[in-house]
Amino acid sequence: MDPLRVAVVGTGNIARIHADSLRQLGDDVRLIGAVDVDADRLAAFADRYDVPARHSDLTSLLEKDRPDLVHLCTPPGSHHPLALACLTAGSNVLVEKPPTLSLAELDELVEAERKSGASVATVFQHRFGTGALRLRALLDSGVLGRPLVAVCHTTWFRNQAYFDVEWRGRWDTEGGGPTMGHGIHQMDLLCAILGDWTEVSAIARQQARRMETEDVSMAHVSFANGAVASVVNSLVSVREESYLRFDFERATVEVTHLYGYGDDDWRITPTPEHAGEVLAAWRTGPSGVRSAHRAQFAEVVRALRAGTPPPVNSAESRRTMGLVAGVYASAFTRSAVRAADLAADSPFYRKMEGNGPRW
Ligand SMILES: NC(=O)c1ccc[n+]([C@@H]2O[C@H](COP(=O)([O-])OP(=O)(O)OC[C@H]3O[C@@H](n4cnc5c(N)ncnc54)[C@H](O)[C@@H]3O)[C@@H](O)[C@H]2O)c1
Repeated sequence: MDPLRVAVVGTGNIARIHADSLRQLGDDVRLIGAVDVDADRLAAFADRYDVPARHSDLTSLLEKDRPDLVHLCTPPGSHHPLALACLTAGSNVLVEKPPTLSLAELDELVEAERKSGASVATVFQHRFGTGALRLRALLDSGVLGRPLVAVCHTTWFRNQAYFDVEWRGRWDTEGGGPTMGHGIHQMDLLCAILGDWTEVSAIARQQARRMETEDVSMAHVSFANGAVASVVNSLVSVREESYLRFDFERATVEVTHLYGYGDDDWRITPTPEHAGEVLAAWRTGPSGVRSAHRAQFAEVVRALRAGTPPPVNSAESRRTMGLVAGVYASAFTRSAVRAADLAADSPFYRKMEGNGPRW
């Protein structure tokens, strides 16, 4: 079978992880093109990864090289127009998180996807480590019982200099602070396990950094299955950690990591009466794969070969983006927000900050 022809747009920091991860997939994929508006970065990247087609704009790549799949590794504000261009040209697109700046933009991509036959997917790599896959499998089998309570913490640290990069910490280019840009990873895994959320109550604060957006948000979230979760997103936490905890009727399942987990970062604590059954199921589940871009890319390639929408598909991405919008809507209206409140007439549908933040 011919290799899948992939192009990378935006050749900055995360693009190198994309290129290294694509390389690790071997002959299944070929990096045939790269695009950047910065000629020096483009040349350095293309030389390093031996990329034949080099372009200063996406339109030229789409016309001349017609890639099967485009990885968008540009700053968040450019994701929507670039993804639209890919879908219109019939190329599948895998966009870095956050997929768009707003729910309105994401819905436009869903509409373009419907018309084009090509697919749009978002990079949420923490769904794809075997720890998360094992948890999902155990939950589906019923061995854990009902989910009751969850904790979802992204307590990270970014100093003031981090926000010197011109697109960071601004509503119009990044779409938010740690809720949109960092905690979205953990919130996506939370939603992947617990499903549809129904209501959120949140606060957002500017605790320490000079920037437009929040540097801390805290929320409690209700899910359609009856579970409730506590979410913290912070960029001012000196001892950094990503922590997810799920309390089911028959066991607590936890993962503690920072930017990626392995199997050893997971811990399961069953009730004494269900220990035998729960631990046996946990030990025989999938194992051996860290949460990383490579794990997701392998699934994206598999899905495209099978003619199915690659993960994380637009509907799943939208649910996570809806929760992000819900956190901001609740924080800035100072009231509980239901998922249904974020319809097209809500100011938080068009912009994450709605009609403007209220601190
Ligand atoms: N999944 C993850 O764990 C993870 C981690 C870090 C960053 N990210 C995401 O990756 C994206 C990029 O972040 P980064 O840190 O690599 O940014 P970066 O600033 O290092 O790189 C972005 C590159 O895109 C180029 N660019 C900008 N506009 C362009 C356009 N219209 N066409 C072509 N090239 C353009 C810039 O010149 C630059 O080289 C962001 O969405 C960020 O949130 C994801």
